[in-house]
Amino acid sequence: MTTSTVAVPVITLPSDQDASGRSLGEEEISAVAEAIRSGTLTSTKGQFVPQLEKRFAASLVTKHAHACSSGTAAVHVAVAAIDPEPGDEIVTSPITDMGALSPILYQGAVPVFAEVDPSTWNVTAESIESRLSPRTKAIIVTHLFGNPCEMGEIMELANSRGIPVIEDCAQAFLASHRDRKVGTLGAIGCFSLQQGKHITCGEGGLVATDNDALARRMFLFINKAWGYGDANPDHYFLALNYRMSELQGAVALAQMDKLEEATAKRVAAAQWLTSRISDIAGIQAPRVHAGNAHTYWKYCLQVDSEAVPGGAVALGNKLKERRISCAPRYIQKPAFMCEVFRKRRTFGNSGFPFTAARPEAVNYDSAAYPKTFAALEHILVLPWNERYTEEHLSYIAESIRESVYELQK
Ligand SMILES: Cc1ncc(COP(=O)(O)O)c(C=O)c1O
Repeated sequence: MTTSTVAVPVITLPSDQDASGRSLGEEEISAVAEAIRSGTLTSTKGQFVPQLEKRFAASLVTKHAHACSSGTAAVHVAVAAIDPEPGDEIVTSPITDMGALSPILYQGAVPVFAEVDPSTWNVTAESIESRLSPRTKAIIVTHLFGNPCEMGEIMELANSRGIPVIEDCAQAFLASHRDRKVGTLGAIGCFSLQQGKHITCGEGGLVATDNDALARRMFLFINKAWGYGDANPDHYFLALNYRMSELQGAVALAQMDKLEEATAKRVAAAQWLTSRISDIAGIQAPRVHAGNAHTYWKYCLQVDSEAVPGGAVALGNKLKERRISCAPRYIQKPAFMCEVFRKRRTFGNSGFPFTAARPEAVNYDSAAYPKTFAALEHILVLPWNERYTEEHLSYIAESIRESVYELQK
């Protein structure tokens, strides 16, 4: 039964929230069964997580990869490895998941938000540069929806100032910039294996680096800073247990076999849709800068509200009537407008770490972000899936076309 008012037959698309849109099968089942039969479910003694780490590092061509419990944990591990002083600043994006921001606060540093590129909604070198200060300890870039940031320019800036760059690749498995995979361009790459990502083990994360010292600190932070294997181990510094279990590792390792194919299908499907909707006035398909390869965690449209009355929200409502579970405005508002930032809801009533920062770094004045507000106003995020068939894609394309015409009537 559908409550839709749409005359054309409504199709249910595969969803990444259940078996219809996830490539989970016998391979994952037998890996998990093997883990259970082994009786070893902790990665400190098991085989699956170490194998996953080796496999992931090899696939990225990095020296080190460590698994952890989530993408949020991955960002926390990366920030902890950089080891900011209380109140230090980390320049990042206001259009990202909260899991990329709360780790900064937990580690006693503060996010300083850069502006975004109006065509990709990624942070830019120019905007990052305007936010740098003597207290900038790191830059975190999010490759939003799978579309790489302009890493050449960002790395040139960061290297000239000696500031490490953390790449948040939670949405960008196998995306690349000038033939180098994202996650290998900065000092550390962070990935998420959460339910809706390119590959999944339900919850999980990975960090990657070529730097031996950062790798060591990340390994320790995941393991309560206990020096496993050392002659005289101790808890060397404040850290958490962010380990991935062998059950998750078994699933994630089996998923690694499927990553390339799943990603290639997402890319091919996106290119097909782009070719089918590029003539619709008022609708802009994802824009990918020269030299970048976008791997489409989501397919994000830009809707011109002058050409499409009601803009992204109205078009989103029309698509939802057709059971296309899209998200107008993505995170709705820039991250700095969430209560955690506006009301400084952090540790008791202390306001820490905002209280330890330069006041001008954390005043989060909305007037400084016209491009961020404009971006969120116009974006419409479509769910994306490697299991879309031509029938699904035609359905999405026709639904967009018909909905736009209906709004223009
Ligand atoms: C860009 C980005 N960073 C970090 C995260 C946090 O990952 P997780 O949900 O696995 O904690 C996400 C999750 O959606 C994300 O999209």
